Amino acid sequence: MASPARLYTHGVSASARADFAEDVRAGLTKHPQKELPSKYLYDEVGSALFEVITLLPEYGLSRAGARLLKRHAEEIIDRLPSPVAVAELGSGSGAKTRWILEALSRRQPVTYYPIDISRTALSRCWQELGRIDSVSIVGFERAYLDGLLNVASRRKPGERLLVLFLGSTIGNFDRAAAAKFLCEVRRILHPGDALLLATDLEKSVSDLLLAYDDPAGVTAAFNLNLLARINRELDADFDLSSFQHEARYNPEHRRVEMHLRSVRRQTAHIPGTSQDVTLASGETIWTESSHKYRCEEAARMGATAGFRCEAQWVDAEWPFAQSLFLAE
Ligand code: AVJ
Repeated sequence: MASPARLYTHGVSASARADFAEDVRAGLTKHPQKELPSKYLYDEVGSALFEVITLLPEYGLSRAGARLLKRHAEEIIDRLPSPVAVAELGSGSGAKTRWILEALSRRQPVTYYPIDISRTALSRCWQELGRIDSVSIVGFERAYLDGLLNVASRRKPGERLLVLFLGSTIGNFDRAAAAKFLCEVRRILHPGDALLLATDLEKSVSDLLLAYDDPAGVTAAFNLNLLARINRELDADFDLSSFQHEARYNPEHRRVEMHLRSVRRQTAHIPGTSQDVTLASGETIWTESSHKYRCEEAARMGATAGFRCEAQWVDAEWPFAQSLFLAE
């Protein structure tokens, strides 16, 4: 029997709209490359579209990450300190996390803290994971580090933390920011705490471009929805039919970039930011980067942040790594 569990959320969304407006304003006045932060791709529509992306045959990332966790959950758990509470940065749908929580809950009762700025993501996670025996969920509607600080402050005496950063979200940071982010995570942790980090690995450019520009157009819809969201939430008038989704591989930075290309010269009005945005014909708005790693590179980045790389697991079908780090 599943134990009755409840979802508590600790939200701070009062200023969320103001932050969104400010980030849109700042990003669209950047010169020469306009950009929008990729975290805003995940409103209710965007999160649902991303769930569809994970089902696409061309998008191997999510299945690879889940396969590794399913296959190696016991091995991962065996290398963890005990007792341990679990914090996840970006709750996603929670599906991958199930394998870890189930394996861990056979050893001890588990408190699981999903941390996500999206309330939608938290409630999906709750739906997916709310019924696992001996697992209680406490969600934090916060930015990652802010949420992690809160989780760390609730630590019980003698309890360790396992931080999950799955789904290769770290790929959205440029390499310097990723390294800095791991240092910040490390600073919140104590020696003996653990971090499980997923990174998508380098692979052929053609496989990557198909993954980020699928023939059914789901990724295009996911990308375009960012403009639709600005229309909805900031009363803007972007004409979505005059933008095209574009995925490019940037070999210098070893990353896939998503852009929205304006097919004509146009001006959009954004009352929510008191701004008019003019795009030249062919000009793009850069909406996301997805950096691709080498295994040793991920291990080194963790080491530089003050972790020891305890083990790595790599998927054979779709090059993708899970790295288990222990804080030193
Ligand atoms: C959820 C950040 C891992 O970068 O591959 C999917 C998002 N963007 N298709 C990624 C995404 C386009 C995804 N992450």
